[in-house]
Amino acid sequence: MESNFGKRNKSSEGVKTYTIVPVPMADLGNNERRMLKAMLDDPNLAWTLPQLLEACNWTDQAHVAGAGLNLEEAGMLVIDEISSKHVTLGEEGIRASEIGLLESRLMNWLLEQEPELRTISNLNESFEKSESGPGIGLLKKLGVILERGLLILPEDIKSIQTTLEEREAYITRLSEGSNIPSDIEWLPLFQSRKNIIEVNESIIRTWKLTDAGIKFDTNSLDETQQIVDLTPEMLQTDEWKNAEFKRYDVNLPAPTPAGGRPHPMQSLIQRIRSIFLEMGFSEIEGDFVRTAGWNMDSLFIPQTHPARAMQDTFYLDNPQNIPIEEKWLNLWADVHENGGDTGSTGWGGKFDQDEARKGLLRTHTTVNTVHHLAENPNDACRVFGIGRVFRQEAIDKSHLPEFHQIEGIIHEPEASLPMLVTTLKTFYAKMGYPDVRVRPAYFPYTEPSLEIEVKWRGMWLELGGAGIFRPEVTEPLGTEWPVCAWGMGLERLAMLVLGMDDIRELYLPDLQKLRSMPII
Ligand code: PHE
Repeated sequence: MESNFGKRNKSSEGVKTYTIVPVPMADLGNNERRMLKAMLDDPNLAWTLPQLLEACNWTDQAHVAGAGLNLEEAGMLVIDEISSKHVTLGEEGIRASEIGLLESRLMNWLLEQEPELRTISNLNESFEKSESGPGIGLLKKLGVILERGLLILPEDIKSIQTTLEEREAYITRLSEGSNIPSDIEWLPLFQSRKNIIEVNESIIRTWKLTDAGIKFDTNSLDETQQIVDLTPEMLQTDEWKNAEFKRYDVNLPAPTPAGGRPHPMQSLIQRIRSIFLEMGFSEIEGDFVRTAGWNMDSLFIPQTHPARAMQDTFYLDNPQNIPIEEKWLNLWADVHENGGDTGSTGWGGKFDQDEARKGLLRTHTTVNTVHHLAENPNDACRVFGIGRVFRQEAIDKSHLPEFHQIEGIIHEPEASLPMLVTTLKTFYAKMGYPDVRVRPAYFPYTEPSLEIEVKWRGMWLELGGAGIFRPEVTEPLGTEWPVCAWGMGLERLAMLVLGMDDIRELYLPDLQKLRSMPII
């Protein structure tokens, strides 16, 4: 930051120096003035936080930190930081202060036994396994020898005892709350053992005036009324001419306001909805729980199709079956078995009506559009829907068992393939993806069938399927016009819009991340 009152310069040798320039009074804020004035009462002291709080009559340490930084920036003071370690007893340490350190208790036990009785098995009888195990290690480090299950004390017991006394004394000092700096040498020994001591590191700051600070003219340190906001009233009354303005610093860190916002997925759905609405489409909805008949058979998906199997589709126990009007079952049976009146040969085999009545969670939203056609076979329409679908998928970065589709149809006498492609291109262009291409694909219910791909960062990404409904689908519904149909993935699109590569992130309750996602 450039500041007027103490410029940080680089001298020709590349060493940072301060050029002290006179500080215009108005450049020091009231907090800075108060702190400087307080410090000038004892100009050579290295002030601590509590001292400064008291001298300035502040309760909030943020004032000291803020004003201190500004004064440092102005070359008036230097901030010194010393890191200090504060040691207290942990759970085991407190126990040791009461009954002695494990190594001392073991040593006492050893001394009480006859030499030939100092065996590991005897030790295990007097001490818990959790103590005797680590304890033997501690004794060995002190010079005790372990030979064929027998613990042998060295000649020089005295030096072991001295060591133990010193250790005990350290624990006692800690239990009395003392924190002697020279005790630092004990840290490695006890830090490597569980829960004996706890070490907290803290930083202690002091603020000390520089020569420039000491020489500062105290007369200019009176606090003044400083104006932060310029109001219309001040402008009208000319009051601003005599006012002293607080300097506005755009470089100061400030918290980002975290107001509420819709979840990015909700915003995206809203945006897609308004695009289809402005393109002249109406919105339709439907239930999650459907029959296999409407979800699959009405779409001429063969009853033997692998995607109908349990491992791909969530079939329900309740309702296990849902009644379907006889009329539909018969019509579907006809097309599936022999093509009905469509000129198709159908799939052959026997159509199973029980299979059609099975309850399931819809696997695609095409069930909504086909049902809409069944209810309005003679009405031209352009409808869309954005809805949740369910498939048995293992969760990974690009798959979820619940996701959304953007579904739609155009049902009218002149509906055609170019109309379908143009509609999809227009939609993606309005979403901000002008490069769209279609490729041949296969679905049991459309002919021709297309895959829709969008160019993103130089790559073509598949975002959905589309096509013209086959006669085997439209004929039983009683419509005679062509139907353009599509179903596109919403989450895939969301990943492009929000620039992420893991689909799961969309639904994690990570507020930090959600807040930082782009506004849609
Ligand atoms: N239902 C298809 C899917 O889930 C997409 C689709 C819809 C394809 C309509 C063609 C026509 O992937």
